[in-house]
Amino acid sequence: MSSLVPEKRDVKEPLLFEAAWEVANKVGGIYTVIKTKVPVTVSEYGDRYCLIGPLSYKTAPMEVEAQEPTDPALAGSIEAMRSQGIKLLFGRWLIEGSPQVLLFDTGSAYSRLDEWKGDLWNLAGIPTPPNDHETNETIVFGYLVAWFLGEFVSRQLSTAVIAHFHEWQAGLAIPLCRKRHIDVTTVFTTHATLLGRYLCAGSVDFYNNLQYFDVDHEAGKRGIYHRYCIERSAAHCADVFTTVSHITAYEAEHLLKRKPDGVLPNGLNVVKFQAMHEFQNLHSKSKAKINEFIRGHFYGHYDFDLDNTLYMFTAGRYEYRNKGVDMFIESLARLNYRLQKAGSSVTVVAFIIMPAATHSYTIEALKGQAVTKQLRDTVTDIQTRIGERLFEHAARYSGESGKEFPPIEHLLSNEDKVLLKRRIFALKRNSLPPVTTHNMADDAADPILNQVRRVQLFNSHSDRVKIIFHPDFLNSNNPILGLDYEEFVRGCHLGVFPSYYEPWGYTPAECTVMGIPSITTNLSGFGSFMQDLIEEPQDEGCYIIDRRMQSIEESVNQLTDSMFTFCQKTRRQRINQRNRVERLSPLLDWKNLGIEYSKARQLALRRAYPDSFTDDEDDFEFMGVERPPFSVPGSPKFRTGMATPGDIGTLTEEMQALGTSDYRGQVWPSSKEEEDEGYPFPLV
Ligand code: UDP
Ligand code: G6P
Ligand code: GLC
Repeated sequence: MSSLVPEKRDVKEPLLFEAAWEVANKVGGIYTVIKTKVPVTVSEYGDRYCLIGPLSYKTAPMEVEAQEPTDPALAGSIEAMRSQGIKLLFGRWLIEGSPQVLLFDTGSAYSRLDEWKGDLWNLAGIPTPPNDHETNETIVFGYLVAWFLGEFVSRQLSTAVIAHFHEWQAGLAIPLCRKRHIDVTTVFTTHATLLGRYLCAGSVDFYNNLQYFDVDHEAGKRGIYHRYCIERSAAHCADVFTTVSHITAYEAEHLLKRKPDGVLPNGLNVVKFQAMHEFQNLHSKSKAKINEFIRGHFYGHYDFDLDNTLYMFTAGRYEYRNKGVDMFIESLARLNYRLQKAGSSVTVVAFIIMPAATHSYTIEALKGQAVTKQLRDTVTDIQTRIGERLFEHAARYSGESGKEFPPIEHLLSNEDKVLLKRRIFALKRNSLPPVTTHNMADDAADPILNQVRRVQLFNSHSDRVKIIFHPDFLNSNNPILGLDYEEFVRGCHLGVFPSYYEPWGYTPAECTVMGIPSITTNLSGFGSFMQDLIEEPQDEGCYIIDRRMQSIEESVNQLTDSMFTFCQKTRRQRINQRNRVERLSPLLDWKNLGIEYSKARQLALRRAYPDSFTDDEDDFEFMGVERPPFSVPGSPKFRTGMATPGDIGTLTEEMQALGTSDYRGQVWPSSKEEEDEGYPFPLV
């Protein structure tokens, strides 16, 4: 930032804008970050806080209640843009905390796209190809946000303004603010690096080569050079640059060439139940719903005991290798073999919930639910009739000994028997229960299905591990597996997320706060975070597979072992473990982790307005937030005494002055040691 504007802005009660492509627009984990963080941010900023996102006419009516702004600077800025033909929606985001939100219709500004592309080239030397829709959206959104901030600070001259941006799709406004000398201080939080995601998705030994990549060349080779430039300029132009985990900080340092100022771990809005058994009851209730689905899906082959069945799952955006689905399926095949060999009576149903291109549900999947529903309805009718007959008989009891109960053939009439037989015959089928619930757009080339074919997990009678691939996010309105994602997670026994590339990974974190054990890796931000904090994470139901220091074969075996060990637990042990996992929730609560965001904003203010700060001021006091007591839940043993819960260091100007940073260097192989020999199982 640069302050050409002479007036000294007040830094004590700054205003905060937070921009992200996923504000009121769900795509993946960034939506979860923003949405769950709102309550703590609102409690700190109230109406001095406003989120900025893109306007999607399809979802906005469900997400936002329109309002006219009352703040004169806000109203004036919005009016100025509207008068230039820009369409936008201002109002309250309908989530806990009801924050102010401003959504821009990028479509209303597309007529300016070429002009802005030219400007971007002249200003920052960033080239843009003609047909990259995502980049076009990024450019228009970035220019609209910078335009808005310019309008705003020209009207609001007395108070400091912090503009916080997430990810490259919202980051373009940062270099624009800087070049135009807009008097705001900026924070950029990246949730991944573009290049990292692309490189990992290929078969590259990423982590051992991070220092050596020729970044421009690699980005060019993958056709993302222009996107990479936007991301890199956002990282370099921001007053404060942060990311979500140490592993991504390390990656950003090498791929974006700026060492992050600090790490802001992702939290959740933890809801504490009054009684411990409440979340256990929820598990039971949700599991009953999954059981119902299973009976339908496996009709005709429902020969296993649901009381002795474990539900495991993985979920997320469909990134086959990055999310470790390849490793999950391979390990499931090995688990199947081990359970068979051990003569185990446990059945594992493994769900893969990952949206892919599909046409519709398969007839088989729909039929399974229909025939079991008919069976249930028929049984319910017969049950009523049996009840009536039993009642009639009992009511007419003559006192004759031995005649208290009617003979069974009187209870079940011939008509009922025929009806029931018909339903039972409808359950016969020649094919095995399908692996996928949907007709895939490209069944033959689908990496998950191909891997399942390779390991031959076809849901046959002898398989102890069954697989169900649901290539869509869950929704309680779905005709099959009609549960919300949260309900589904609660009903499962174990979440499995063996990611190779995962800057944070909300899915295992969400399992934790719901009291469901999970498996993750030390290449995921969340996994490393837990490993840093807890002495024996596996004892707490937080299994962490080493994908960093051992071969892929060893990692696959470790994952198989963990799942196999889990299968050997008794019900009592599982209940205990759920209790222990749930006790870790405070570690992931924004009430504790939100402080890291406060520190980043504080640092941004200090950098932009150094004259407004004196050296002896305590940052926490200054921020108006309490230095959080790092209360330690029951059993976990924490590794280090930490300044604040979120992190290992302290993200303040003093730390920066000492030449240290909030993120510790990781212990990584320093040289190109053993090249990874590739997968023991073929990659697609
Ligand atoms: N999710 C969902 N419905 C599903 C599966 C996943 O809403 O059926 C959500 C999940 O709750 C999580 C997010 O998708 O908050 C995925 O975030 P994560 O950080 O794990 O991965 P990302 O997609 O950001 O890489
Ligand atoms: C919860 C319920 C118990 C139930 C158990 C099943 O703890 O409160 O009543 O027996 O879940 O656990 P399981 O791991 O077998 O699904
Ligand atoms: C990104 C990452 C994911 C992270 C999320 C929120 O989408 O892929 O690992 O959890 O952002 O930070």
